[in-house]
Amino acid sequence: MLDTRAIHNLALIGFMGTGKSSVGRLVADVLHFTFLDTDNVIEARAGKTISEIFEQQGEAAFREWERRITEELTRRKKTVIATGGGLPASDANLASLKTHSLVVCLWAGPERIWERVRGLTLRPLLNGPDPLAKIRDLLAVREPYYRQADVLVNTELRSVRQVAQQVIHQYHMAQAVHR
Ligand code: S3P
Repeated sequence: MLDTRAIHNLALIGFMGTGKSSVGRLVADVLHFTFLDTDNVIEARAGKTISEIFEQQGEAAFREWERRITEELTRRKKTVIATGGGLPASDANLASLKTHSLVVCLWAGPERIWERVRGLTLRPLLNGPDPLAKIRDLLAVREPYYRQADVLVNTELRSVRQVAQQVIHQYHMAQAVHR
């Protein structure tokens, strides 16, 4: 499939806490691409934090923001896109990303994710009484989407730098197929 696709960008998908933003920034630096984080774009457009959108308007409103931003991404070139963890859990969003990006999923198991995000209060979906159970449930629902990425990178035993190197390597390989 990859050889018939336009690959202008790199999209990093994966669960909260898998390092999409830190890896994405590093990759963008090395490739001389622009870095874009969909959560940041939504916050700037909405004039509210993600938590405020969830609290005041509900999750459905946030997902609608994600849908609109995803459509706009089709016009981007030379951009490393870090998506919110739930953005690719939509057939339409995932298909749209694949029209212009190499889609790379950063993977980690629930326990490792919990270690990485605990203590951070910025993620409204994990504010309930049993965040680890919530991570397990959400991950089970999202796994079939994450597995549709072009490339899956296990982040568990790798540093941000090592994950970034893997992502860059995969991007160069995909580019070579297109030449
Ligand atoms: C979400 C992940 C968050 C953010 C929002 C919802 C999710 O982004 O979009 O809190 O549904 O998994 P990160 O994956 O960057 O934390």
